[in-house]
Amino acid sequence: MKELESPPRHDVIAVLDFGGQYAHLIARRVREARVYCEVFPPGVPAAELGRRGVRGVILSGGPRSVYEPDAPRVDPGLFDLGVPVLGICYGMQLMAAQLGGVVEPARHREYGSAEFEVLEALPPWDGLPRRSTVWMSHGDLVRSAPPGFTVTGRTANTEVAAMADPQRRLYGVQFHPEVVHTVHGRDLLQRFLYDVCGCRGDWTTGSFIDETVAAIRRQVGDGRAVAGLSGGVDSAVAATLVHRAIGDRLTCVFVDHGLLRAGEAEQVLEAVRDLGLKVVHVDARDRFLSRLEGVSDPEAKRKIIGEVFVRVFEEEARRLGPVDFLVQGTVYPDVIESGTGSAAVIKSHHNVGGLPERMHLTLVEPLRLLFKDEVRRVGLELGLPEDLVWRHPFPGPGLAIRVLGPVDAERLEAVRRADAVVVEEIRRAGLYRSLWQCFAVLTDSRSVGVMGDQRTYGWTVAVRAVTSDDGMTADWARLPHDLLERIALRIVNEVPAVNRVVYDITSKPPGTIEWE
Ligand code: XMP
Repeated sequence: MKELESPPRHDVIAVLDFGGQYAHLIARRVREARVYCEVFPPGVPAAELGRRGVRGVILSGGPRSVYEPDAPRVDPGLFDLGVPVLGICYGMQLMAAQLGGVVEPARHREYGSAEFEVLEALPPWDGLPRRSTVWMSHGDLVRSAPPGFTVTGRTANTEVAAMADPQRRLYGVQFHPEVVHTVHGRDLLQRFLYDVCGCRGDWTTGSFIDETVAAIRRQVGDGRAVAGLSGGVDSAVAATLVHRAIGDRLTCVFVDHGLLRAGEAEQVLEAVRDLGLKVVHVDARDRFLSRLEGVSDPEAKRKIIGEVFVRVFEEEARRLGPVDFLVQGTVYPDVIESGTGSAAVIKSHHNVGGLPERMHLTLVEPLRLLFKDEVRRVGLELGLPEDLVWRHPFPGPGLAIRVLGPVDAERLEAVRRADAVVVEEIRRAGLYRSLWQCFAVLTDSRSVGVMGDQRTYGWTVAVRAVTSDDGMTADWARLPHDLLERIALRIVNEVPAVNRVVYDITSKPPGTIEWE
């Protein structure tokens, strides 16, 4: 995991990562409590955390068992740093195992809701109700707490559901305070951050903007920068921040590859121009389309789009004269992901990869430390329109990977129109913001139908709507049937050559969000 220099002056909480998803979610919850935090690999040396002046440490849950021989462990020095440590699930078991307690496989795996009973009202669960609903997911449990610890809470199946050594400020909970199903989970984390660690809640959007603008000025000096606008919120926010810092020494390049959603290009261009950014609009639609002709393999599509994008961008950037910096909208989950090194390549995500080295450009990545919801808050504060800020994520290769099989202008237009119907109806139903993404896919299968007494043989559109925290896992959205019916009716009526609509009820895993 690449180390990040935290912004100065802020309290820092370290989240040690024993299993991607859990750690991400904890980090987000901490940030939501206005406390800055960073995710570290499990084996980070205690001295390193000490050097960084962290105010507290949270050990995340994870899928492993502490008594597997190669199970991840923490530097034992962590418990002597003198800063509070909260172990969650695997984190608590690890704390118990490393400090002399006993961890065993549970007789009954516990998964789902449980009633937690506070036995000793010690921080961070003092002030919480005596009984409350928590969410459990574990195969092992702490049989006996380590010396010096008091058992402070239990559930029906878990005798040691919470433990504390207030002297050393070490705490453990078997349940997951970071998930919404733990009713008082946020309170508990907040108490840990504020009451136990003494954090001040100084991580705010305003402070982030001021500090980032100052940092960009220091980095870029009197140099010149170029930014790619993709249509999405990340690149627009990144460019707007850099513009605040260096004004017209930033030029934005918007490559229209013809694979965007209805009205998207116009909306982004208008928004950033309104904010005073200098934008070059490159119409490369034909170039992309001709290169994609006859290509059906998803990875081949991605590769071609990535390559053509870099070529076009490079040509434009060279036309601008000497440029030293390239602005990218990389966000924190990308940084955490690219650091783990163990994730299999499911899909090769495209960005302006390869450009910085080819053109000897230095990267400026002002959003490297932010989660998506934080990027949105910064965008709103910078004055970007709500519609743009709240727009759902959209893949770099755009609609090309939502047209299964070969891409041509006609099929692109069909998926664009179907997509517009999906989004419009979901917005009208007031559900847009509750979803991570919703869209249409034009499949490559045709079926027989009947319209106005005529036999039809048309394409099938798949509608996809998912909820998710960060796109890593996702659940299909339980949309109301009458809404699905309206969507299906409109697509069949408004999109030529489509005579059937299906709704995708696959979660991720095993599916992915996109179909290609
Ligand atoms: P999957 O389909 O892998 O997608 O479940 C997870 C999230 O990533 C987006 N996505 C992409 N984003 N380039 C991108 O910039 C890509 O090639 C790409 N493929 C998928 C997807 O929309 C979802 O939000």
